[in-house]
Amino acid sequence: MTNKRIVLSSDHAAIELRQAIAKHIETKGWEAVDIGPTTTESTHYPLHGKAAAEKVVSGDCRFGIIVCGTGQGIMMAANKVAGIRCGACADTFSAKMIRAHNDANMIALGARVLGEGLALEIVDGFLETDFEGGRHATRVDMVEG
Ligand code: RB5
Repeated sequence: MTNKRIVLSSDHAAIELRQAIAKHIETKGWEAVDIGPTTTESTHYPLHGKAAAEKVVSGDCRFGIIVCGTGQGIMMAANKVAGIRCGACADTFSAKMIRAHNDANMIALGARVLGEGLALEIVDGFLETDFEGGRHATRVDMVEG
């Protein structure tokens, strides 16, 4: 895979976890494209989910990692962008499976749900798992319509 860029964004509820993930993925050989925000001033997760999603569908970044309080709202916003397949994960098995079976190109995490250690394990599971293709490709095509 040539594109090693991963876009990260969050809302105000998840700045610290997002920054920890950015640092962590750099140690694994990825380039973190952290598009903020940088302050804890209250903001709106749909803006940040959409901004990250656009960097993935444009091809600028291979994957996106987005974080809000629960991971749910920002995931919903990202999935409104055509071509995005984003799952909100609170366990490592699901993070691997959304790559293996659903060819997810983004993952959403909840900073008020997960401790940092588990969040980083979930991110590793997502990034270290390849899409299996085959019958799963047929289904992903159906999702894409
Ligand atoms: C912000 O308070 C919170 O609603 C947001 O981070 C997220 O959890 C929404 O899904």
